[in-house]
Amino acid sequence: MEFVIKGGKPLHGETAIAGAKNAALGLLAASIMADEDVFVRNIPDVSDVNTLLEAIADTGARVKRISRHEVLMNGSSIRSFIVNNRYIRRMRAGYYMLGALLGKYHYAEVALPGGCTIGSRPIDQHLKGFEALGAKTSIRNSMVLVEASELHGSNIYFDTVTVGATINVMMAAVFAKGRTVLENAAREPHVVDVANFLNSMGARIKGAGTDVIRIDGVQKLHGTDYSVIPDQIEAGTFMAAAAATRGNVLVKNVIPKHLECISQKLREIGCEVQEYDDSVRVIAENRPLRSAKIKTLPYPGFPTDMQPQIAVVLATARGTSTVNETIFENRFKYVDELNRMGTNISVEGNIAIITGVPELKGAQLVAPDLRAGAALVIAALAADGESVVEEINYILRGYEDFVEKLQLLGGSIGLAESEEEARKFFLKAGIV
Ligand code: EPZ
Repeated sequence: MEFVIKGGKPLHGETAIAGAKNAALGLLAASIMADEDVFVRNIPDVSDVNTLLEAIADTGARVKRISRHEVLMNGSSIRSFIVNNRYIRRMRAGYYMLGALLGKYHYAEVALPGGCTIGSRPIDQHLKGFEALGAKTSIRNSMVLVEASELHGSNIYFDTVTVGATINVMMAAVFAKGRTVLENAAREPHVVDVANFLNSMGARIKGAGTDVIRIDGVQKLHGTDYSVIPDQIEAGTFMAAAAATRGNVLVKNVIPKHLECISQKLREIGCEVQEYDDSVRVIAENRPLRSAKIKTLPYPGFPTDMQPQIAVVLATARGTSTVNETIFENRFKYVDELNRMGTNISVEGNIAIITGVPELKGAQLVAPDLRAGAALVIAALAADGESVVEEINYILRGYEDFVEKLQLLGGSIGLAESEEEARKFFLKAGIV
């Protein structure tokens, strides 16, 4: 299966953003910490979320999908603390079940998360936090084992700002005796969403969104009815698509504050970005875009998950730009693909140097990971000519209805299961 794209048309219209994948993954794991019904709304219908829900159901927890975007959870029927299947091994966020099961049952065995192509993705900070709370941790046969006779509050200073470890240790500390303080904590919107979710269930978490989070242990959690925040990165991806195709797109169902760094950078590059209560409009039609310097940083800095997408915008901006990736060690795998479209990008260590070119040419492309895959789709939509993007399962992990949303914005994009279908698509697209 592959995406087939005929580029060269600016995107116009409006699109609605789904719930945040990276908030939903932590939040759904946390939902099993109560023994009552937990109703979660606005979850994105993407494969990472669906895989995690299957893994949670395998523990014996009740998982009732009410609709594409709503699920009823209940952790009272859990009978297994082992989370391991070939799907969960391919995604990263299965590790959130460590914090949730350890916190509630003092035991968990979870498949070691697969390393992603963007970096080694260690979990040493997760384990450091669990051990500080009183747990024993070990890794055997590609499984992570954590167990504790009891969990007690502790002061934990993360050696590096880590979203996953912040969320995981925050969950593990919910029932720990006494106060836990997490320092050098991640401040991402999805960390705040998981904290708010747990507090709506009766947890006592303060400071989420700052670099110091305090968790005071409680006896138990109760049910809740909670809606996941909009996806900051999906929103940013469509903002970048509007800019790269020189279009005019209204991105709805967003929290503009979460997009501030992206909006500012697009303005610096030459786009007009209008902010409303729950939407932003990106206008780039007939605007000569100019170069910029990008440095990825933990929130509220420029998100690493937007790095490939902004690189595509800069690829046809006037002048020379630099993109400095400070979070992951291998997040430029898409550059070779872009250079086959006529971009002029060189990578030295963790810095990409981008010299803007007047236009891109369509090409046969292979998505190297989730966000780079989305960036290649944006490049193909902006390019002159036909492109094919393979390995699109990466993209389907994090973007709901990606093809349909781009089609509604005027993008000439389709899904092809075979060469024949691809040929038919291009024939039809060529006639339009
Ligand atoms: C989350 O990954 C996101 N994934 C990633 O999004 C995102 O890129 C990343 O946060 C940074 O924002 C999910 O939320 C499921 P980290 P995570 O722990 O938690 C190092 C996407 O596209 N580190 O914040 O794994 C690590 O190597 C994905 O949706 C340690 O050294 O990221 C990295 O350099 C891609 N030890 C840095 O910290 C640890 O124990 C940030 O990683 C943990 C992390």
